[in-house]
Amino acid sequence: MLTDDMKKKIEEECHRCGNRQGACIEAIQTAQTFWGWISDENMEHIARFLGMSPAELDGVASFYNHIYRKPVGKHIVMVCDSVSCWVMGYEKLLDHMTQRLGIGLGGTTADGLFTMVPIQCLGACDKAPAIMIDEKLYTDLTPEKFDRIIEKYREGA
Ligand code: FES
Repeated sequence: MLTDDMKKKIEEECHRCGNRQGACIEAIQTAQTFWGWISDENMEHIARFLGMSPAELDGVASFYNHIYRKPVGKHIVMVCDSVSCWVMGYEKLLDHMTQRLGIGLGGTTADGLFTMVPIQCLGACDKAPAIMIDEKLYTDLTPEKFDRIIEKYREGA
């Protein structure tokens, strides 16, 4: 069920867009901030609130990479797989990250702390390779630097 806070935020977005369907991605993102991911049931709640069918809303959501339709970890590790990062060691870094976290792209660690997903250019090509964890960008990444970063998140868990 949508909470009153979620409804208020979604209503504000609908008002800003001028129509309810135009606010659908923001509505899903708002809900995802609260729930962490969007189950089928919650997709229905959002669709009903916007006056759309769940299939219509799901169809729009499927075009967006960062709408999660299954449970994800507390932190989302987005790994840039675009050209500059490839050139600067993406494969080696991804191998290390995969081993360190024990998951591949799309996977979630057993402790529920991290989900690792691919992402296109993060706009930090001059400091590649780059990743983003939640909202924070990390650049000039090396395996050692990644380990230190991950440890900080684990300590803060
Ligand atoms: S290619 Fe990775 S940040 Fe641009």
